[in-house]
Amino acid sequence: MLTALVHIGQLVTVRADGARVKAGSAMRELGILEDGALLFDERIRWVGTTADLFRQREAGELFWDELLEAGGRVVVPGFVDSHTHAVFAGSRAHEYRLRLQGATYQQIAAAGGGIWATVQAVRRASEEELLEQARPLLWSALRHGTTTIEIKSGYGLSLADELKLLRVIRRLGQELPLCVVPTFLGAHAVPPEYQHRRSAYVELLCSEMIPAVAAEGLAEYCDVFADEGYFTLEEAEQILRTASEHGLRPRLHADELAPFGAAELAARLGAVTADHLLHISDAGIVALREAGTIATLLPGTAYTLRLPYAPARRLIDAGVPVALATDCNPGSCLCENMQMVLSLSCQEMGMLPEEALVAATLNGAAALERSHQLGSLEVGKQADFLLLAVREVTELVYHFGINHVHEVWIAGRRVWQAPV
Ligand code: NIG
Ligand code: FE
Repeated sequence: MLTALVHIGQLVTVRADGARVKAGSAMRELGILEDGALLFDERIRWVGTTADLFRQREAGELFWDELLEAGGRVVVPGFVDSHTHAVFAGSRAHEYRLRLQGATYQQIAAAGGGIWATVQAVRRASEEELLEQARPLLWSALRHGTTTIEIKSGYGLSLADELKLLRVIRRLGQELPLCVVPTFLGAHAVPPEYQHRRSAYVELLCSEMIPAVAAEGLAEYCDVFADEGYFTLEEAEQILRTASEHGLRPRLHADELAPFGAAELAARLGAVTADHLLHISDAGIVALREAGTIATLLPGTAYTLRLPYAPARRLIDAGVPVALATDCNPGSCLCENMQMVLSLSCQEMGMLPEEALVAATLNGAAALERSHQLGSLEVGKQADFLLLAVREVTELVYHFGINHVHEVWIAGRRVWQAPV
């Protein structure tokens, strides 16, 4: 069935004309059509202005089964949240309070909290319990405009518990209208039982966990937390090379807590993305640009941990393609709302609204190697889009702290509509 959506106040196509990703000044090009119209089934079939749509129907060149009114609202591609840890058990609200009183993320982790606290809760939880906690969080992400979401494991840190998390991630993708992309993050932390023999944990990752995850087809990507107090560059390299041999593509938590040279490693390994980058060096910026590695920035984490933000302006001006994501997780950023991330990126990292929107759509899709089918509103791409209750796109960040999403469409189906 073909649907026509007409009188779109601004149709923000983010057109890429076949480009995989946008970098530099191209990140400011939104391909906006005033009084736009879309024709779609599960894919976009036609893009243009309302006047042209009706003209072409008069000429017998276009037809549709159903005509819908956007009433002057803005349409943008659905958000692609390309970095989350959204499946977990328990809460770490008490850590949040400790940080407000001056404790650092690292001090809390050293005292037995942090990732380890969530691992203990996950190990006790059943698949059903994990699903029950994740489901409302994912629906909330969707209501705030996320149509594709990457989710990492990493709170199990044993073969059985990592597989349990990945199976929950798979079930969420089957149950919910969202497209869910799974990443194996067994190298999130060295669990306490391996604290004094960390090489045995790396060995377990490489010889048992990665092969098992790959054999069950439970993940597309492998990620490593390469940072001070977590995994070394040598360990990260060994893990990601092994993962690649098993068909899991590499991505990396890089230079989040300390300058670590992890961005350079991501570039050298041809990682799809290097994420966080609060402490990226000048050499790291050059390396990412040369390698075409996408820098995924997660300003909600710097906001929550009250750390200096990643150098978004320097990255964009240097020609590194930048994506934005939430990092949604119970420790360093409990936020599933991409609109909040867009606001932070403009307000705190000096990005322009146009750049933020490109980073949250086309470049997010590229960060998950799906920009040939997602991330912009162009003929042939999947019909994933949002109707926003704003009159022009800057309002999305200018008017902050509320949900602007009026309707969410995924693969040509309306999957959510605001109650008023
Ligand atoms: O991206 N950096 C590692 N992982 C998360 C935090 C995970 C946690 O504290 O539970 C992050 O910030
Ligand atoms: Fe993360």
